[in-house]
Amino acid sequence: MISAKLPKIFYGGDYNPEQWPEAVWAEDVKLMREAGVNLVSVGIFSWARLQPNERTYDWGWFDRVLDLLAANGILACVATATASPPAWMSTKYPDVLAVDAEGKPYYPGARQHYSPCSPTYRRLAAALVTRMAKRYAKHPALAAWHINNEYGCHMSECHGEASTRAWRGWLKNRYGTLEALNAAWGTAFWSQHYYSWEEILTPRRAPYHPNPTQQVDFKRFMSDAFLELCTMERDILRAATPEVPITTNFMGFFKPLDHWRWAREIDFTAWDSYPDPATGHAAEAAAACGHDLTRSLKKERPFVLMEQVTSQVNWRPTNLLKRPGVMRLWSLQAVARGADGVMFFQWRASQGGAEKFHGAMVPHGGTAESRVWREVKALGADLARLEPVVGSRIQARVAITVDWNAWWGVELDSRPGRINYAATVAEFHRYFFERNIAVDFVHPGADLGDYDLVVAPALYLLAKNDAVNLEKFVARGGVLFTTYFSGVADENDRIVLGGYPGYLRRVLGLWVEEWSPMMEGETNRVRFAKTTAKDGVKGPTRVATCSHWCEVVHLEGARALATFAEDFFAGGPALTANAFGQGAAYYLATKLDAPELARVLDGVCARAKVGPVMASVPKDVEVSLRERDGARFLFLMNHGAKAARVRLAGVGAGAGAKFAGVDLLTGERVGRAVTVAALGVRVIEVGT
Ligand code: GAL
Repeated sequence: MISAKLPKIFYGGDYNPEQWPEAVWAEDVKLMREAGVNLVSVGIFSWARLQPNERTYDWGWFDRVLDLLAANGILACVATATASPPAWMSTKYPDVLAVDAEGKPYYPGARQHYSPCSPTYRRLAAALVTRMAKRYAKHPALAAWHINNEYGCHMSECHGEASTRAWRGWLKNRYGTLEALNAAWGTAFWSQHYYSWEEILTPRRAPYHPNPTQQVDFKRFMSDAFLELCTMERDILRAATPEVPITTNFMGFFKPLDHWRWAREIDFTAWDSYPDPATGHAAEAAAACGHDLTRSLKKERPFVLMEQVTSQVNWRPTNLLKRPGVMRLWSLQAVARGADGVMFFQWRASQGGAEKFHGAMVPHGGTAESRVWREVKALGADLARLEPVVGSRIQARVAITVDWNAWWGVELDSRPGRINYAATVAEFHRYFFERNIAVDFVHPGADLGDYDLVVAPALYLLAKNDAVNLEKFVARGGVLFTTYFSGVADENDRIVLGGYPGYLRRVLGLWVEEWSPMMEGETNRVRFAKTTAKDGVKGPTRVATCSHWCEVVHLEGARALATFAEDFFAGGPALTANAFGQGAAYYLATKLDAPELARVLDGVCARAKVGPVMASVPKDVEVSLRERDGARFLFLMNHGAKAARVRLAGVGAGAGAKFAGVDLLTGERVGRAVTVAALGVRVIEVGT
């Protein structure tokens, strides 16, 4: 459970009362009650209203908002308001402005223009948060703290003076000596040797590729610099209210922040999910991927879907709305995948400002005739019925590795070809999503004891310890599946010499001599040998198309399950399996299209003995199981346009398992099979 004060599924949204006359607030709380709203995030962009100048704070209106909420039984996730500093601040102290790689400042007038390293920003943010924490520590409405907002969202790099100073400090801390830095960065190349710390700059506009290790380190540093802001606020809040849980809202696969380092500093994770309705079924796959990531970042506690939209956003070139039923379906999907909170941006649609065309729980036209409002109210009622689910968890036996260092490294300039890291990870996630196999994300260095299968796509940059961790996982009986261009460089982006994939060479039983990316539209073919279940990939001889990347692989104990059929690569291994210790390690030296990859992964899952909860689920029906102290909650979500009939029977190790029980949403008792309406959801408390 996230908060003992609110043992329910959180339901509400960003509430920005400062945009409205106080007369509207009374209507707001009345409508919140009508919709079943139990929590709102307040104050996210209120800094300018809370502090008119450096010496004056204006808490009166905020007191009245919180009092009104409390009087109406609505709790608050109180935001620290530090995401958008007031204009007076940069007028008085221009050093708060962030500076881009060309040396140009970001000016106020939008939001998030502050430099994370500005001592002035830090001082004023700390002063605001200290007062806020003290003032509201005992307020009955306070249920959680929301630090800042989407750190790094619009501005994730600062090259100003304060940032450059802080960067040098960070480097001193990492390397200790200039010798060590010079060695790690490979500054013998292109006459880049540094003789004093003052010579070192952030990677700014340069005539050609800046030093790659400097670039990766700068990403690490910036992630840490923003994190320092977050922990600074957290420490202030925690000192005032040790029992109140603290979060900040993430954005799923967001490249600038190393989320593994971030998640351990907060009490519960939250994210903002805006899948594009224009992308069809890819939208729900993308949302599922973000939910699984946010849940995995802090496995021990449910997460909160902190923001989504009721209808349409305003920031894509074309902003399709969610058709009737989609908002409910996608909200319950978040719960199905581990969320204990479903919130929106925002409560009431703005009349002015840059987001007035962004959907909200209360639309411009009011509530009476509004489809959106009807759906908002119905969702509130549905979530109230799901109270028994609170605190339950998803038990995955499969994990996909995600490492921000690998992401930063693989996508730098000066690589052999383009690899889109997040898209590659998402492709693998999609397989498990479509097969309804529960999947977590993990750091490659994490404890892998919970898993039977670990998929490690494009782990280009891999620290030795993490490679050893993966090797141990296999030695103890795990199944590892990794892909081309993995293990190539160490944590300093230096090649691990002696044959790729470096420290993974032993566990994979092969080495890679060279590679070539393929041009857009170019393909090769892969010939699969006839295999049996024993080989892990069962099937007749077949030929499949591959693209994107080809490698020259030499076997050192591994067996080729498929070989390239064309070009200079012909005859060389394309897919290999290596028995290692008690387990097995697979290597895919190219990119297969989705159906072919699925066939391969089916075999790998069979080898690892992992599978879905239930057999023969109709297409477009998503299945998820949450469990707590023997209680089990089966979620069936129909993303298709037609009603689907689902047989409630277990599969694999769970064969014979029955899922009869009561549908918490309808109270209906269901037995052997159940119909899930188009865009419908069933949440069956199994065994009741
Ligand atoms: C989020 C942000 C909100 C709002 C929303 C619009 O990124 O946190 O403040 O801007 O997007 O979709």
